[in-house]
Amino acid sequence: MSSEPKPWAGRFTEATDAFVEAFTASIDFDQRLGQHDILGSKAHATMLASIGVITNAERDAILQGLNTIAEEIREGTFTWSVELEDVHMNIEARLTQRIGDVGKKLHTGRSRNDQVATDLRLYLRDEIDLMALLIRRFQGALIDLAEREADTIMPGFTHLQVAQPVTFGHHMMAWFEMLERDHARLLDGRKRVNIMPLGSAALAGTTFPLDRDLTASLLGFDRPSANSLDAVSDRDFAIEFTATASLIMMHLSRFSEELILWTSAQFGFIELPDAFCTGSSIMPQKKNPDVPELVRGKTGRVYGHLVGLLTLMKGQPLAYNKDNQEDKEPLFDTIDTVTRCLRAFSEMMPHLVPNRQAMRDSALKGFATATDLADYLVRKGMPFRDAHEVVGKAVRLGIDTARDLSALYLEELKALAPMIEADVYDVLTLEGSLCARDHLGGTAPVQVRAAIQAARKRLHEEVTR
Ligand code: ARG
Repeated sequence: MSSEPKPWAGRFTEATDAFVEAFTASIDFDQRLGQHDILGSKAHATMLASIGVITNAERDAILQGLNTIAEEIREGTFTWSVELEDVHMNIEARLTQRIGDVGKKLHTGRSRNDQVATDLRLYLRDEIDLMALLIRRFQGALIDLAEREADTIMPGFTHLQVAQPVTFGHHMMAWFEMLERDHARLLDGRKRVNIMPLGSAALAGTTFPLDRDLTASLLGFDRPSANSLDAVSDRDFAIEFTATASLIMMHLSRFSEELILWTSAQFGFIELPDAFCTGSSIMPQKKNPDVPELVRGKTGRVYGHLVGLLTLMKGQPLAYNKDNQEDKEPLFDTIDTVTRCLRAFSEMMPHLVPNRQAMRDSALKGFATATDLADYLVRKGMPFRDAHEVVGKAVRLGIDTARDLSALYLEELKALAPMIEADVYDVLTLEGSLCARDHLGGTAPVQVRAAIQAARKRLHEEVTR
């Protein structure tokens, strides 16, 4: 049986069973919300004084007490107690211990239900801002790499078969675009995070004439929530964030998969820095791409959290239910996982060493300019379907004689289609093929450079705004 009296013990006649106490407590994980809980309490106390529910002197005592507790938490000297169940009651009990009975006035017109929903939103808002910065940092590294490799030819793939030549810079800018959407989604979701439940109290509101606009503006919320029942029970914002996080992880996992393929001896397109790889305890030759592999692997847990949170909510009647306490661990783990994976990627990017020769050699292997030859024949007047057929025969000849299309003799090509002239070699080379895709969004190096410049400008304007 537990010894500490509970803040809610009034109507109880028996002490809490020790196992039940530990089973229902959230302090092990929700102590992470400590600083944001204090921010919320300070704004609440300030508002209570402004409407005359507590005096200015009482407010000052509370604020000072909360500031010292914030310091204790920061320094790691605060003792969290399971008997006090969660972060809210731990901090409140400590406040009363420090400043006496005045501390007991803080919870006027408030419930842990609106308190925890507010804390979560304040906390998540900060984490979203950090995550958005990490994405920007990663994108910055991608732009730099794309610029250095704007002319580097690599095979572009469909079905993981060589399709047409592209530049490595173009490929890096494709990743950039994926992250651009992630960034936009994060900031869009932030709008729905930044609404204040505080003042909804347990579920129905409170009998005190709270100035919720004041509390909201003190906390930097866009507005107070419009319905108290919805506000204490809603976790859409956490689910939406986890969905956005799942898309980020899906992108990182795809990047990882490419890096893992590209570092293999079979591709050899890039070299990862030693600091991001590990060796094998038995095979001396190994250098394994552990970081991308782990990122790919961690994607699964974030998807799991998304499904977990959706399932957590699906059977809940209005308003708050204890089920909601289960929202925190998946949300926290999602945040930790995504921020660490983003950090790993942005630190890895600047040290990635592309092997230009290997990429070029590989692009020469799969008849990557076949479409260019077909387009050439079309420009000379041949219907596309016929051109497709002719080029198929040229490819067959290349396979049989182990030569790229650009290595076939003019007479050989002319035998397939008499309209082919010496200028055909302009389109059969990798460079010719690349440069011909010269339109917005295309892979021609001039277009890649334009995309890089536009991206740089966008990021720069955001910083200087
Ligand atoms: N620890 C609780 C949670 O995380 C705080 C709210 C508790 N409210 C209640 N009525 N038991 O959800």
